[in-house]
Amino acid sequence: MRFGTELLRQSDVLAQFTEDAPRVTRTYLSKEHKQAGEYLIDLMRCAGMNADFDALGNIVGRYEAAVSKAPIVMTGSHQDSVRNAGKYDGLFGIITAIACVKDLHDRGVRLPYTLEVVGFGDEEGVRFGATLIGSKAMAGKFDPAWLDKADDAGVTMRQALAAFGGDPDRWRDIDRRGKNVVAYVESHIEQGPVLLNEGLPVGVVTAIAGASRLNVRVTGLAGHAGTVPMGARQDALTAASEMVLEVERHCETHAGLVGTVGKMSVLPGAVNVIPQDVAFTIDVRSGDDALRRAAIAAIRTGCTTIAQRRRVRVDLADLFTADAAPCDPALQNAFAQAIAAHGIPVRHLPSGAGHDAMEFPAVAPTAMLFVRCGNNGISHHPDETMTAEDAEVATSVLLHFFENFRP
Ligand code: GLV
Ligand code: MN
Ligand code: MN
Repeated sequence: MRFGTELLRQSDVLAQFTEDAPRVTRTYLSKEHKQAGEYLIDLMRCAGMNADFDALGNIVGRYEAAVSKAPIVMTGSHQDSVRNAGKYDGLFGIITAIACVKDLHDRGVRLPYTLEVVGFGDEEGVRFGATLIGSKAMAGKFDPAWLDKADDAGVTMRQALAAFGGDPDRWRDIDRRGKNVVAYVESHIEQGPVLLNEGLPVGVVTAIAGASRLNVRVTGLAGHAGTVPMGARQDALTAASEMVLEVERHCETHAGLVGTVGKMSVLPGAVNVIPQDVAFTIDVRSGDDALRRAAIAAIRTGCTTIAQRRRVRVDLADLFTADAAPCDPALQNAFAQAIAAHGIPVRHLPSGAGHDAMEFPAVAPTAMLFVRCGNNGISHHPDETMTAEDAEVATSVLLHFFENFRP
């Protein structure tokens, strides 16, 4: 096997750069981000690239074109992970691209464009609440207010960046708009069961679903669990629970929506005290932006009504919004041709998960290749799997794309 066995070995090495072994958790600007980045930079340099961290901690490798002033094609994915993650979400898109470049370099092949491979520092948004930090910065959407966001330990992004060796004040430098980038392509594990159920190793993404995230705070009144009569309570947690079910009800009754409450905290947090302060997140996604916006409006109204009836206060703050991102038809076609050239039926499918690629239409035409996810398609979970055979095929398809793409 040319690529697959080695890529799975690299994935195992990268999984060791984790904040909570034996689980895999690697957040933005952590010590483990630095270690994974140094490993990837080493792989990039061995593949004939100039490589380093940029001002925001993204890992960037350049494989120079045959001629000077050539256009640029970008590829890659994210180095960070959710808590207790799998080994392939994000990282596969970086190492498969490096493997392609290494193959070109070993054969002495230069492309008619410079190929830039990026390991984005943050896509998952676990540490600072801001999401897709690296790709948004490259798409000119970095918000400098994020630099003052603090993690759970009170460390701001600005402090963490300085400690990492980055430069918080140089975020403008990494904007790629107007820099002769002619395409962005990303390979990513599907994180769902569609390709698995159809017996296909790879597929072409048609569009990436849009997402809205809210931070919700519910404020009630703490009191003695034994003395306050049931009808006299202002229980922030029972109110929040109804709001969680409101999110589920709305998304269940409107086809094309998914909604999740994935994080909640309860204070004071004692067995014998009525909850006073509850904070939780809402994540709503759809391929249809109008449907998603209407859902957020309805959920806001629903939560406000619940709060009034239960005599608690609710504050709903926007945390993140991204519109659905259609993939470029010509690039989809180029991926379809690369797949067909391998004798594999071409399957087009949408992405319900978010990806760095969703920010790139602001920079250049964008497309994605999906790779089969084993184990019923489970992801954001340690049981996420990819076979060496699928890593092999996906890398060969990506290489075919790179060798045949003409800007
Ligand atoms: C990223 O993994 C997301 O879709 O939340
Ligand atoms: Mn993910
Ligand atoms: Mn991902």
